[in-house]
This record gives sequence, structure tokens and C-alpha cells, in this order.
Amino acid sequence: MAREIQTIANIGSGTMGHATALQFAVAGYPVHLVDCTRELLDAGMARIRADAESFEEAGLLAPGDTVDDVLARISTHTDYESGVKNADFIIESIVEKLEVKQQVWQEIERYAPADAIFATNTSGLSPTAIQSVLKHPERFVVAHFWNPAHLMPLVEVVPGESTAEETVGETFALMERIGKKPAKIRKESLGFVGNRLQLAVLREAFNIMNEGIADAETIDTVVKYSLGRRWNLVGPIASADLGGLDVFYNISTYLFNDMDNGTEPSPLLEAKVENGELGAKTGKGFYEWTGESGKAIIRDCDRHLLQALAEDNSAR
Ligand code: NAI
Repeated sequence: MAREIQTIANIGSGTMGHATALQFAVAGYPVHLVDCTRELLDAGMARIRADAESFEEAGLLAPGDTVDDVLARISTHTDYESGVKNADFIIESIVEKLEVKQQVWQEIERYAPADAIFATNTSGLSPTAIQSVLKHPERFVVAHFWNPAHLMPLVEVVPGESTAEETVGETFALMERIGKKPAKIRKESLGFVGNRLQLAVLREAFNIMNEGIADAETIDTVVKYSLGRRWNLVGPIASADLGGLDVFYNISTYLFNDMDNGTEPSPLLEAKVENGELGAKTGKGFYEWTGESGKAIIRDCDRHLLQALAEDNSAR
């Protein structure tokens, strides 16, 4: 029988951590939120409040729950011991550096209950490498949320070489209980599944720009109104089945030869990064993000994601 997970510890309150903490608290779990300083925790709690308010407006809180009820489930800690000692499930979203994650998990293991599950939200580090420093690596797994973690349903659940099947199963079940859509990945690989696919598309998108075939906006229009629409419903593999596998076979015989199969970052991307044009966070990437039109894209995107979650909820 699956263990009963009653209390969550959430390590890190930044971009991903604040959103996972919110997600667990909205689902009714007490959450112990851990970060390095009071100031960081205060900033994390402010983000949690703002996102909880957007959930309330979209009708995404449990019946009878208020924003204050959700926030009251979250306690804040600057030390691991008080944060993790009563936790059944510990999710970590701290800096993406192997040595730091290894050191933090070793410390957590000193204080956590012996049967707690350990989950890292790493984007791409090897779970086998992180768990190798633990006394009980079998309880360690990847739970890779997508940004923004309170709005995107997917969580990739990825075992390392020493992860127990039970750890994967219990993590999967917990993700379903908090309303996420978990995907069980059979074995670890760089980028798991989602980022491998995302980067495959991006490599060709940059190539299309580099070859002068189409500009950024045109590429985005093509994807939004064709692949994006369809993949939201059936995914690329079912799409290929529906389109006819002979058709995709034929296209594969001539098109792969013409596409980018490079193993280095695109020169276009490199130039942008060298120029400090990093996208929305610096105000400019392939688009301008400082003006009203950039803000409107972000607002519109969040609004649609909230609406989609509300539809998912009412369909459940
Ligand atoms: P972030 O920099 O926004 O937040 C990291 C938080 O961890 C900060 O609040 C920091 O103070 C805290 N922290 C750092 N060291 C700590 C420690 N030793 N103990 C406790 N707290 C500590 O970073 P972000 O973007 O939230 O990324 C966190 C993790 O999530 C990384 O592993 C990243 O690869 C992964 N991730 C990020 C995604 C993204 O789009 N930002 C998407 C999916 C996963």
C-alpha cells in the first residue's frame, strides 16, 4: 500500500519553488518552505500570495478556501532541520549546480524522517549523480515541473539508477493528487523528454531564421496555429499516426538531409546571449518585452493557462 503523504517540505522559494509550494498548499497540504534568509522567504511568500490571488480570481481554490487559508498552510524556515524533520515528501528547487544539490540533499538526509521521499526539480542534472551521495538513494527521484509551475500541468517523474519503483509510484500518485499531469519517464537522459523535444524544435527554428526562410514572428505564427493547436490535443506521435506513417516516412527520406543536425548552439542564439539580449528578463530577445505589447503577451498567456486549468478542473 502506498505511504500516506501528509506534510511537504519545499526547499527554495524562487521562480520554481514558490510555485510548487503554492501548488501543494492549494491542494490542502501543510508546507514547510525553506530558503537561505528571511528576506528571500518574504519575497517568496509575496509571490505565492500574488499567484494565489490569481488562482482565486480564476476559481481555482478549493470550495470554501481563501487566499489567507492557503497561505496559512505554509510555514517558513531558514534551517533544514525544522523545515524537513516532519516532512513525508521533500521537493527541492535550488540552484542548478550538482555539487550544491548533492551537499544540500546530504544535509536534508541528516534531519528528514527515514522514509520520506526526496524529489529534485532539476531541469537536467543526473538524478543518479545527485543520489550517489545519499545513504538511501532509493528514495530519491526527479519531479521536473514546468515553468510557471503552478500553471503548467506537466511533471516529469524520472528515476535515477538507484531509485526504487515505489518512490516513482508514490511521487506519481502525489502529483496526480495535487492536480498535476505526471509523466513517468523510464530512465534518465539529458533534458528528460520535454526539453529534448523543445530543443529539437528550437534548433530547427533558429536554422530557419539563419537561412532566411522566415523570421521569428512568422515561425511562432506557424507553430501557434498548426503544431501547437494539434499537439495540445493529440501529441506528435498520435498526429503522425493520424497523418499516415507512410507520409511521414516519405518526408523523412528527403527532409532530414536539409535540416540542422548541428551539435553546437546556434550562432544566432550565441550572438543574442553575447549582446545581453536574453529575452523578457532583459527587455529584449528576438522580441521587445518592455512595451505594452510585450506585457500583453505575458498577461494573455497567463490568462489562457489559468482558463485551461479551470477547464481541466471542471472536467475532472
Ligand atoms: P531561482 O534562482 O529563482 O530560485 C532558487 C531559490 O533557491 C532561491 O530562492 C535561492 O535563495 C534558493 N536557494 C539557493 N540555495 C539554497 C539552499 N542551499 N537552501 C535553500 N534554498 C536555497 O531558481 P529557479 O529558476 O526556481 O530554479 C530552481 C531549480 O528548478 C533549478 O534546479 C532549475 O534548473 C529548476 N527548474 C527551473 C525552471 C525554470 O524555468 N526556471 C524550470 C524547471 C526546473
